[in-house]
Amino acid sequence: MKNAEQPVSKQATGKESYSLVNNQTGESVELPLIKGTTGPDVMDIRSLYAKTGCFTYDPGFTSTASCDSKITFIDGDEGILLYRGYPIDQLAEHSNFLEVCYLLLSGDLPTQEQRHKFRHDITRHTMLHEQVMFFFRGFRRDSHPMAIMCGIAGALAAFYHDSTDIKDPRHRAVASSRLIAKMPTIAALAYKYSIGQPFVSPRNDLKYAENFLHMMFATPCEDYKVNPVLARAMDRILILHADHEQNASTSTVRLAGSSGANPFACIAAGIASLWGPAHGGANEAVLNMLQEIGGKERIPEFIKRAKDKNDPFRLMGFGHRVYKNYDPRARVIQRTCHEVLDELGAKEEPLLDLAIELEHIALEDEYFIKKKLYPNVDFYSGIIFRAMGIPTTMFTVLFAVARTVGWVAQWNEMIEDPVQKIGRPRQLYHGQTFRGFTPIHKRK
Ligand code: ACO
Repeated sequence: MKNAEQPVSKQATGKESYSLVNNQTGESVELPLIKGTTGPDVMDIRSLYAKTGCFTYDPGFTSTASCDSKITFIDGDEGILLYRGYPIDQLAEHSNFLEVCYLLLSGDLPTQEQRHKFRHDITRHTMLHEQVMFFFRGFRRDSHPMAIMCGIAGALAAFYHDSTDIKDPRHRAVASSRLIAKMPTIAALAYKYSIGQPFVSPRNDLKYAENFLHMMFATPCEDYKVNPVLARAMDRILILHADHEQNASTSTVRLAGSSGANPFACIAAGIASLWGPAHGGANEAVLNMLQEIGGKERIPEFIKRAKDKNDPFRLMGFGHRVYKNYDPRARVIQRTCHEVLDELGAKEEPLLDLAIELEHIALEDEYFIKKKLYPNVDFYSGIIFRAMGIPTTMFTVLFAVARTVGWVAQWNEMIEDPVQKIGRPRQLYHGQTFRGFTPIHKRK
């Protein structure tokens, strides 16, 4: 079976399907189409192997829907991102991170009462088990904070046995609250540990983003007042990164969870996947790239390198697997970037100037236009973090803090999905076929 030769056909059942015809034997199979509420239909290929003896081949899953989800919708051509139907720019403008967490987890925005209870549940889980601190101190001071995040998130399973039974909805709910609540604490502790400062405990009277900034920057020696503009910017960044449907780290969480692994192990797997420079590590890479470029006069040289097939250099913060238009999050973050720099009196930040000029040149360049490469969310977030005084190695950590709710929501959805089964892709094999064992003295 090679081609989907016939277009969509209406079967007697009234259901739409694709006919796949083997162009050697003429045999055909009908593959039903499943329609979502919006977005492309999917061809249901579950019976394909049984009917044809063939697998599908789709490295990087560019044409494969791995699950049926109600959480996040992206239209990459139009540059649209919806959480449970709400556009990302409206949520970033009018909502706050905890409300968005509730939305992603439950499906709807909370009422006053629900919001109050949810906030209470999250704030009551922000502390870490005291023994986790010993675990922390086992890391080298110069450890990358993502290594610490992976280790500590996975280790939580050893401390919270009352929330690892994935079949029990109560356990799942407590594990979800714990993960969302403790991630900022772990992130801030990783930072404090790396700079040799004492750990700062969470404060339950502060909002989520405020509390995070407090744990990052307060010290026992003096009062620390969280700047409301920076807290709002941080909250917005958390909203923008909260979920992004079936990206690499979310798919990793789902795949790890499909075997029945506990939620803390699954989130640790997600953190590991996020670490890579093609995914969550990109904002760190953007800042490194801007620093390497150094000045506007060197932009053409780097644009040339990005276009050179023989040069591995890519313009970091540009391009996206799904968005073939401006990333809607990039618009919000660009505005936030200006607000933060204005507040900090850093309007003349040379890296921002450089980023704006680079974006401008790339957007007018034939190569980037043709390949539909636009700035993604990571292009400006690094500049904001840097202005806030957050070190580069912490950038991906912040992404992990924000994405935890998305991972948790998707993991819960997977477990509740009646068709869920262990994820087990197949392969196209090009290795050796059967051959007998050769004793060592006969090998050449
Ligand atoms: N600079 C230069 N060329 C690029 C870039 C870039 N940033 N991104 C893609 N291209 C080119 C590719 O070389 C390829 O060219 P070809 O068709 O001649 O082979 C073409 O555009 C398509 O790119 P792919 O790599 O096939 O697209 P894919 O969907 O696999 O990759 C990715 C998407 C990984 C995001 C890529 O655009 C990239 O590496 N960007 C830089 C890293 C980055 O910013 N990552 C953040 C992603 S957003 C996030 O995780 C929140």
